[in-house]
Amino acid sequence: MVEGTPVNDSRQNKRILVVHGPNLNMLGKREPDHYGSRTLDDINQSLSTKAGELGLQISTFQSNHEGEIVDAIQKAVGRIHGLIINPAAYTHTSVAIRDAALLLDAPIIEVHLSNIHKRESFRHRSFIADIAAAQISGLGASGYLFALEALAQLIA
Ligand code: DQA
Repeated sequence: MVEGTPVNDSRQNKRILVVHGPNLNMLGKREPDHYGSRTLDDINQSLSTKAGELGLQISTFQSNHEGEIVDAIQKAVGRIHGLIINPAAYTHTSVAIRDAALLLDAPIIEVHLSNIHKRESFRHRSFIADIAAAQISGLGASGYLFALEALAQLIA
């Protein structure tokens, strides 16, 4: 944010949850050709900085366990104004995460570091895409920041 630029008041106190699915805790070490070299801490730090610029409150959560992701989404019901989720491998398998996301009364943006549509056919199906406002796939770590900017506009 340019110093002195007033934060849009309509965004103040709007809470965004970012959920990272399994194996994303290994970013930086994991298949860098697909997922880049940035660590999850690094991505979360960029998200916090961007959230500050946009006047949004952000919290991040990562789990390798489907049920823990369901629990985190359930806990967020009625408390958040937007969800950014990279369900990772659960994108392609999890009806449970989809059903939890359906409990939310807030826009959802699905993010993938890699372009899932250019990869194996089992990655082309997403159980989240049709209940999300948008899917951002293939833009690397920047995809999370674009998702946050988009949510800021959607909820303003
Ligand atoms: C991913 C794509 C998924 O197919 C994969 O299982 C992941 C990461 C991505 O961000 O590109 O773990 O969601």
